[in-house]
Amino acid sequence: MKIISSVEELRDQLSGQLRTAFVPTMGNLHEGHLSLMRLARKHGDPVVASIFVNRLQFGPNEDFDKYPRTFQADVDKLEKEGVYVLFAPTEKDLYPEPQEFRVSPPQDLGNTLEGEFRPGFFTGVTTIVLKLFSCVQPKVAVFGKKDYQQLMMVRNMSRQFALPTQIIAAETWRADDGLALSSRNMYLSEAERAEAPALYQSLNAVANEVRSGHLDIFQLEHKAMEDLARRGWKPDYISIRKQNDLQPPTAGDLAQGAPLVVLAAAKLGTTRLIDNLEI
Ligand code: PAF
Repeated sequence: MKIISSVEELRDQLSGQLRTAFVPTMGNLHEGHLSLMRLARKHGDPVVASIFVNRLQFGPNEDFDKYPRTFQADVDKLEKEGVYVLFAPTEKDLYPEPQEFRVSPPQDLGNTLEGEFRPGFFTGVTTIVLKLFSCVQPKVAVFGKKDYQQLMMVRNMSRQFALPTQIIAAETWRADDGLALSSRNMYLSEAERAEAPALYQSLNAVANEVRSGHLDIFQLEHKAMEDLARRGWKPDYISIRKQNDLQPPTAGDLAQGAPLVVLAAAKLGTTRLIDNLEI
């Protein structure tokens, strides 16, 4: 595997490649990321991964400085997956001058759920993803459904900017007890780790209620948040949305059986976890 940090060298290395499959990451790779690499391999060749902890998508009081950086362990894992190039730019490589041009995400999708609780997050994500796409010029790029709203944001951006990159969705990878794998799980204490699957259980409880015909959305969301709060969580949201645009379903949508997804974000101690479940 070639490890490249400069944009120019990356372009040279990939010139002439028409079927590149790309997996952008922020490192601290776990089995979930590796499953993205394997899916990428099915959709293109060569597989290119990136590791870049993108300052632009972190708020001032978020965990940019303490975000886990485990470069050598990540390299070993990517080698084993047969990744062709690891693009690992420094901040100077990617932001040699202040990034004054930024993507402006649409209001409806950008200001709800994660966008409401992490102002500026999606501007940061879409800006770096656009820039990484411009460096790698992939035919396909793989994003996990764990970050459901991010996946939709990137897919819509790619379509609206007519980017030549097809976005592929990968299923969420879970531990045996249901907890979605995430780099941030490593912040959890032993006791918090034992409690953490409650988030997924709560999504399942909501999904089961909806499946069995309980359609008072507000009441379901409210009860799920209260239950988590009673267990010591600080929920930001548990929200039932339409799969196609992540907006709240109207009575008409529910009557017509619009596909739904329930999404959650909640803090356990100081660790903020997100998860979702398609209904
Ligand atoms: O999901 C992530 O790890 C990041 O948001 C991404 C897509 C690599 C952009 O920095």
